[in-house]
Amino acid sequence: MSVAVLPGDGIGPEVVREARRALEALAPDLELEPHLFGGQAIRDTGDSLPEETLAACKASEAVLKAPIGDPEFDAAEVRPEQGMLRLRTELDVYANLRPAQSEGIDLLIVRELVGGLYFGEKGVREDGTVFDTMEYHPSQVERIARRAFELADGRRKRVVSVDKANVLETSRMWRRVVTQVAADFEDVEVEHMLVDNAAMQLASNPAQFDVLVTENMFGDILSDLAAAVTGGLGLAPSASLSDGGPGIFEPVHGSAPDIAGLGVANPAAMLRSTALMLDHGLGRPEEARRLEAAIESTLASHPTRDLGGSATTAEFGDAVLRDLS
Ligand code: NAD
Ligand code: IPM
Ligand code: MN
Repeated sequence: MSVAVLPGDGIGPEVVREARRALEALAPDLELEPHLFGGQAIRDTGDSLPEETLAACKASEAVLKAPIGDPEFDAAEVRPEQGMLRLRTELDVYANLRPAQSEGIDLLIVRELVGGLYFGEKGVREDGTVFDTMEYHPSQVERIARRAFELADGRRKRVVSVDKANVLETSRMWRRVVTQVAADFEDVEVEHMLVDNAAMQLASNPAQFDVLVTENMFGDILSDLAAAVTGGLGLAPSASLSDGGPGIFEPVHGSAPDIAGLGVANPAAMLRSTALMLDHGLGRPEEARRLEAAIESTLASHPTRDLGGSATTAEFGDAVLRDLS
């Protein structure tokens, strides 16, 4: 089985190193192939997603991706984030699963990942006005809603669909389609919630949620918030899935330029994304459970700086390896 590894920018290479070491210990048969991507790829090739990398990702069983992005490119024409959106589109990973757990909280954000505000028409009008638009076809809403209901069916059977139906046409259509899909899942309870209220509810009473399903950008924002109320970005993993091809497994957090190179980044989100890959991407739930358990015990014994501890990235990884052996 081959895994395309994208080491990324900033703290990316630091956290991906720990994921690699854990995988080499857990599943030595996996072929882990690193490929250029993001800021480093722009510096070396002028393109954030070189053709060779895209082909390798398509041919792989799963893509293990570290965060990309560098302030160096903030005002540039070619930016790392563009390659990331393109990779998501090319693999059609429309279902972005972002779980968040801590005491009394066990929620799953199901974020639509290849449509909405990120992918609608954009441009500059003659008068200088700049625009991005939110666009969805009902079929895009249908497939993400179906995925969310299927997931809820295997959990606590509650879906909260988050939208802005008091203002946006796309959200009114979103609500209609979600309601239609809900009819196929009699055992699953559905509630519609406006996104501003959802942010407030997530901050004040996150334990009420089971599955949340929402538009691309709403999901981007709400998943950082869900991470914040369950221990922080250093812990939050994600899995981006299509209907068949390779998935992308990456942390919710970014390249954290403020701590890059210091060796203090928390690798738990990257390691948890690796566990999601073993489970959802490679069909290896036993290894996934072993890795999750090792991360869990290491979080208690070797907390990193973001968690109030002093373990370095490598010390955290060492402790995970000891637990796995
Ligand atoms: P960020 O998530 O990189 O950082 C936000 C804050 O969280 C920072 O203070 C950072 O130090 C901290 N943090 C993040 N991950 C951490 C970890 N593992 N351990 C300890 N602390 C951690 O968000 P940002 O600063 O807004 O973005 C930086 C760059 O990352 C931007 O270029 C952005 O586009 C990119 N980004 C990439 C991805 C991705 O590749 N999936 C995701 C989000 C942001
Ligand atoms: C994420 C990131 C990306 C997104 C950026 C870097 C394009 O913030 O994965 O959450 O907005 O999807
Ligand atoms: Mn984000």
